[in-house]
Amino acid sequence: MSTKNIALGVGGGIAAYKSAELARALMERDCTVDVVMTRAAEEFIRPLTFAGLTGRKVHSHLFATSGSEDTLNSAIDHIRIGQEAAALVIAPATADLLAKLAHGLADDLLTTMYLAFTGPVILAPAMNTNMWNHPATQTNLKTLRARGHVIVEPDDGLLACGVVGPGRLAEPVRIADLVMRALEHQQPDLAHLLHGETILITAGPTQEPIDGVRFISNRSSGKMGYALAEEAVARGAKVVLVSGPVHLRPPRGVTLVPVRTAAEMRQAVMEQLSEATIIIKAAAVADYYVPDAPSQKRKKTSEPLTLALAPTIDILAELGTKKGGRLLIGFAAETANLIDEARRKLIAKNCDMVVANAVVGPNGEKPGIGFEADDNEVVLVKRDEAIPVSRAPKRRIAAWILDEVRNLRLAAPVTAQTAQGI
Ligand code: CTP
Repeated sequence: MSTKNIALGVGGGIAAYKSAELARALMERDCTVDVVMTRAAEEFIRPLTFAGLTGRKVHSHLFATSGSEDTLNSAIDHIRIGQEAAALVIAPATADLLAKLAHGLADDLLTTMYLAFTGPVILAPAMNTNMWNHPATQTNLKTLRARGHVIVEPDDGLLACGVVGPGRLAEPVRIADLVMRALEHQQPDLAHLLHGETILITAGPTQEPIDGVRFISNRSSGKMGYALAEEAVARGAKVVLVSGPVHLRPPRGVTLVPVRTAAEMRQAVMEQLSEATIIIKAAAVADYYVPDAPSQKRKKTSEPLTLALAPTIDILAELGTKKGGRLLIGFAAETANLIDEARRKLIAKNCDMVVANAVVGPNGEKPGIGFEADDNEVVLVKRDEAIPVSRAPKRRIAAWILDEVRNLRLAAPVTAQTAQGI
């Protein structure tokens, strides 16, 4: 990658010293780094540290002291630094900074620069656990995520205040890697990235009838699959969306094939297969169904009712045997051993990548992500690599997934054979 200029905003927190490591990690990734400090940050680490590390002037004041020769330069620094930067990363992003950014307050150089900046923004929060968990902070994070910013979730651990919990600044290397990824996403020719591909996407739950009015299903909302379809269209792909019953409007430009049961989904997928060059199986397909479910409503009796269930056909596994040169992407929801289990499925079902969701927590999942939620947090598991994607809106997660799909495609180009479905 050619040299990129990164604006590194440093907020006032104990973790400010780690920003020096982040500056170094960014420079090791061929970046030049312009550091912008808040006044509070200067209480924790001296500007000289950054100047020495980066070899560049460190900025902190919106207006230099009146009469100084720097006055005019400083007055427009917030515009200039932003214009020169390919990305803005703020680490540590304190609760106060997150609040200011969420509300558009601009009372110092860093917050003013943020408002003037149009490129990708990566925020790495660090604070006391209670401050992190406070509804005010969580609401601000939601606002910032919805704006498309990357939030690098803080790590759990022993904090400077003696509390154990989330709030520790993520490792600088992880933040630097996420900055690099955000830059990769800044492709000017987005509309051509998947041009020529026909992507078959499955989404939503399936419904397996028990009788004429009842069915077995799951809580899948279809949001992840629909976000993928929307993003794939934006990238120039032809998209066929085979969808179980959901309450979502089909994205513009997709061919929608509505289905209800796992058997219908399988049939639709197999019918569309010859056209497809990439298949993404985001649907939460029922693993079991009720054979010979009566078409009439079952009458209630006082006797216990036992339903005999039979396994559905695993569509993903079947596709694995028929895919030829197509790229095959599966999904996996796991409660334990996320990456190992996802890789096991990847190999067993002959996929090129498995998007792994951690499903944990007292009610079976993490609050705010996964089933039904607008956000997701996944690991993209490939044969030789596992890429964690931290919590973000599903459309943004879709962009990451499709970036990796494109990387897979670059490694295995579409051939005449692929096009003929061999
Ligand atoms: N899948 C499918 N057909 C099925 C069941 C699942 O195509 N009948 C696909 C899903 O669309 C998803 C993937 O398989 O892409 C993973 O589903 P998951 O339920 O996590 O895995 P299973 O293979 O069912 O394994 P396990 O129940 O052991 O977790």
